Amino acid sequence: MKKPVFAANFKMNLGPQETRSYLQTFLKEFPPAEDRTVIFFPPAISLVVAGFALRERPDIMLGIQNIHWEEKGAFTGENGAGMARDAGATVALVGHSERRHIFGEGDEITAKKCAAAFKAGLTVVLCVGEKIEERDRNTTQAVVLRQLKSGISRLTPAQVAQIAIAYEPVWAIGTGRTATPEDATAVHSAIRRSLRDVVSNRNTEIPILYGGSVSKANAESLLRAPEVDGLLVGGASLDPETWASIART
Ligand code: PGA
Repeated sequence: MKKPVFAANFKMNLGPQETRSYLQTFLKEFPPAEDRTVIFFPPAISLVVAGFALRERPDIMLGIQNIHWEEKGAFTGENGAGMARDAGATVALVGHSERRHIFGEGDEITAKKCAAAFKAGLTVVLCVGEKIEERDRNTTQAVVLRQLKSGISRLTPAQVAQIAIAYEPVWAIGTGRTATPEDATAVHSAIRRSLRDVVSNRNTEIPILYGGSVSKANAESLLRAPEVDGLLVGGASLDPETWASIART
């Protein structure tokens, strides 16, 4: 059985000093555990500090929340994937709904970012998810599978076999509303079937995470749902004790 993945997305919270004291607390609460994978996505500016704090914990991975699709150049305010790697990241979060819907990043940009991540030696957690009006129109699976297919369109099958997917319904992110475990299973199963076309028998190794208002109260029931291989957590990851207890689920 593959290991469950617990990914914390700090979003625009916790600068370097706060990240340092957060991780001190977290590491006390969370001894090394071989049966699960924990990933932190701090703000880019806190990556180096986080890498230093985690230097004796190779069981914990570090990722960047967003990358530019070019390696370097005149892109004020952006971070290249190679720089993220240099700062200690081994993963990039790509296609998060806040990137798609606040910053207007579409499928094409998402696909370019996935390719840029691999070019720099990072793997990817690719986020997909429908808006409430898309769910109401019964187009959830069509939207999610379109985002999935275009997101991986510039990757080789061998690269696709190394990514993780995060299904995050937009209406559930930061709202206190979660998808039911049944809703999550239905979408995750559709994602799994679609991946089968690209990577055939290797597709069962690809973790499919659920995200959107995950909390200490609902983490266990979501993780028990078939096809839910892990959690991507925003708000409830900002407190180190709460996050340690979720990551021990
Ligand atoms: P949330 O965010 O847990 O605060 O809903 C999840 C995410 O956006 O990754």
